[in-house]
Amino acid sequence: MENQINNVVNQFEQDLKEVKDLKQLEEIRIKFFSRNGLFAKLFDDFKKLPKEEKPKYGQLLNSVKKESQQKFDELKKKLSGQAQKYEKFIDLSLPGRKHTIGSKHILIQTIEEISDIFKGLGFSIYVGPELESDANNFEALNFPDDHPARDMQDTFFVNENFLLRTHTSPVQIRLMKEKQPPIRAIMPGKVYRNEAISAKSYCLFHQIEGLYVDTDVTFAELKGTLVYFAKMLFGENVKYRFRSSFFPFTEPSAEVDIWWQPKGKEGRWLEILGCGMVDPNVLENVGIDSEKYTGYAFGMGVERMAMLKYGINDIRVFFDNDFRFLSQF
Ligand code: DAH
Repeated sequence: MENQINNVVNQFEQDLKEVKDLKQLEEIRIKFFSRNGLFAKLFDDFKKLPKEEKPKYGQLLNSVKKESQQKFDELKKKLSGQAQKYEKFIDLSLPGRKHTIGSKHILIQTIEEISDIFKGLGFSIYVGPELESDANNFEALNFPDDHPARDMQDTFFVNENFLLRTHTSPVQIRLMKEKQPPIRAIMPGKVYRNEAISAKSYCLFHQIEGLYVDTDVTFAELKGTLVYFAKMLFGENVKYRFRSSFFPFTEPSAEVDIWWQPKGKEGRWLEILGCGMVDPNVLENVGIDSEKYTGYAFGMGVERMAMLKYGINDIRVFFDNDFRFLSQF
């Protein structure tokens, strides 16, 4: 019996030395410790021993099995630790995973660029809602009842009295109703028009409105401000002109054109904004004394500015969400 026990123990130690991973260790568990394993067999043989030999071998058998089991457990612990370490191992030589970081939309960038120019001149930022009353969008701005801009074709009416604003000019009205002069602010935001969609027009676009109301505001100041703005946005050498125009809410009114010279093509004048002296009727409509105060206003399309600045020739690309376009800016 003693020989048998020694044989199994030796074999166990020998086998254990050769184990390299958990899979091989499992084979050893089956070979020695399972129900039909070699230790179980020793116990079977032990049962057949004569009674007087039992105490001696019983003790021996129990202690070698316990010792072997301990050695087995230790090795198992060691190997599992290594396996875990291996799983956590990071190969620092692998190329990193790329994350695409979003960026500001080109229209937001353009609004910010324009806002910064006016902020430098002391203008603050004011915003109004996109759902607007007919009263603010048209009436207070001196649009006669039969003005074509009130036509259903141009305006998305929500009901008889409310609409999606067709321009940012109603924000002027809101601001003047809220605050007495001096007022100096720009008002960026989305506007809506019920127009056929093409490369040139879209049902949604952005405008920036400007308003300055105080005692003794003059057309010369308006000109100076807008020329400064055009130079900041399009460069010191920009060629510009003021052309007389008409808007219901300004008198006199003008439009500003800049000379556009694409490479290898014929140059031409392009309108960049509308402006004028706030019509006294408008001031009276919001409760500002038009004898005491004068003001100027202007309004420009943001898409228009971005298209000129970056040579974009289709307004629809701003709203397509095409990554190939957006990621250029
Ligand atoms: N609201 C005009 C439009 O949408 C633009 C405009 C022109 C705004 C002249 C003004 C202005 O404030 O003075 O076409």
